[in-house]
Amino acid sequence: MSTETQAAAAASPTVQTGRPEDRVKIFDTTLRDGEQSPGCSMNLQEKLRVASVLEELGVDIIEAGFPIASNGDFEAVHEVAKLVKKSQVAGLARATKKDIDRAWEALKPAASPRIHTFISTSPLHMKYKLQMEPAKVYQAVIDSVTHARKLCGDVEWSAEDGTRTEHDFLCRCVEAAIKAGASTINIPDTVGYTVPEEIFALFQMLRNRVPNIDKAVLSAHNHNDLGLGVANSLAAFRGGARQVECTINGIGERAGNAAMEEIVMALRVRHDAMPFWTGVDSTKITKASRLLSSITGFSVQPNKAIVGANAFAHESGIHQDGMLKNAATYEIMTPESVGLTKSSLVLGKHSGRHAFKTKLESLGYSLGDNQLNDAFARFKELADAKKDVFDEDLVALVDDEVTRVNDHVRFQAMRILCGTKGPQTCDLDLEVEGKRRSAHATGNGPIDAAFNAIHLIYPHDAALQLYQVHAVTGGTDAQAEVTVRLEENGKTVMGQGADHDTLVASVRAYVNALNKLIVKRARTAPDDVAEAMRA
Ligand code: KIV
Ligand code: ZN
Repeated sequence: MSTETQAAAAASPTVQTGRPEDRVKIFDTTLRDGEQSPGCSMNLQEKLRVASVLEELGVDIIEAGFPIASNGDFEAVHEVAKLVKKSQVAGLARATKKDIDRAWEALKPAASPRIHTFISTSPLHMKYKLQMEPAKVYQAVIDSVTHARKLCGDVEWSAEDGTRTEHDFLCRCVEAAIKAGASTINIPDTVGYTVPEEIFALFQMLRNRVPNIDKAVLSAHNHNDLGLGVANSLAAFRGGARQVECTINGIGERAGNAAMEEIVMALRVRHDAMPFWTGVDSTKITKASRLLSSITGFSVQPNKAIVGANAFAHESGIHQDGMLKNAATYEIMTPESVGLTKSSLVLGKHSGRHAFKTKLESLGYSLGDNQLNDAFARFKELADAKKDVFDEDLVALVDDEVTRVNDHVRFQAMRILCGTKGPQTCDLDLEVEGKRRSAHATGNGPIDAAFNAIHLIYPHDAALQLYQVHAVTGGTDAQAEVTVRLEENGKTVMGQGADHDTLVASVRAYVNALNKLIVKRARTAPDDVAEAMRA
């Protein structure tokens, strides 16, 4: 295929198609393996927002969590199961009856549920982590899959540390899992150790040696410790995998999981070299990536493939000249094919409530009357302060508004005195449980003064671990989107805030984090998934 045809194919807003036997299922584990990584935890509302976008993307399976790990995880899987209609919803369980029963309890309301059960099969994991003989592990594979299949018609079995497992033992376990009723067999590269040729040969070996292999879909799950997660996934497709487990922006344990957007676009752009295809609508990729970054505060590195800020930027004169003559000279896919559109001027200060509501609906938001009124009032303030209001401004503003439902503490007003002659001061008004409270504080700079004022109004012991500012659009009048991470007694929360005034955005973000902490404090159950994984 010529480069021009490639670019045109990649620009098509529709999902890819191909031969049915080359279709690869996308199993998204952003809400489980991704969320499990330090600093990436999300609350229930955030998980539901991510799940909706994953469904919009057209992923086949959403792994919503690990129900036994905590009450919070159970609730998240349960609510995602109720919400999602088109994608399948999976819940993770170790190879025990208790885990599997809990996963099933959480998954029951799903239109199409899947129990995903796993056990380690490598000599290293069996000896040191499980402290189980191979024969016991083999029996646990049979017992766990048999039990899961009694509850749920769709069961996936994973051989944890599969790429470091002895082939004979792996073949026996895979055969037994399929015989017990697993219809998907996942071979994780748990520690990101394998290389493309090796994983290709591993999947081929399973297809050649396991007698009942045609009764199951083979799946790859690659971690990125050597930066090979995506390359290994593509090699696994060549070897026979027809499901891939991946995450948005490649978040996940340690160096992360294979990035979904990279797999999807590699298959789209290089369809000539790889016949495989997915059901993902690639034009929703940017939306999903931005939502996840703003929720977790994990910004994407600027040069990250597909979703980095520089992925479609052309700085050098030679490149710009080439681009003007023909975009295909330096672009192998169009920005539009991943949903990156040019900033469009949307509304002005004279726009009415109806136009505002219609625009939000076209961006995928449908707000209740009260939220719409609040968002409209903030839009009017923004349109007064900022010359041009773009789609991105509205998304930031509404995302900010949507996160504020049921808040205990609310931002009201503030006044800052700052500059070279200190001390910097802040007069702050917050509403705490419906009552207006005010404080005056000084600080080492305006942000410090503002955060000290929050402390005076709402005393707490949380430590500020991260403070990050991001400009929503270009220009000096751009809105600031601030992310704040607070930590208290091992519990971490992220807060976001947006405003055309960076200091107001900072206070909004801090207050947002505080509200999440209040909710998290109220939970009594341990909510450390990693802890449960180690047990
Ligand atoms: O990396 C891994 O082995 C996993 C399994 C639990 C599927 O995440
Ligand atoms: Zn994993």
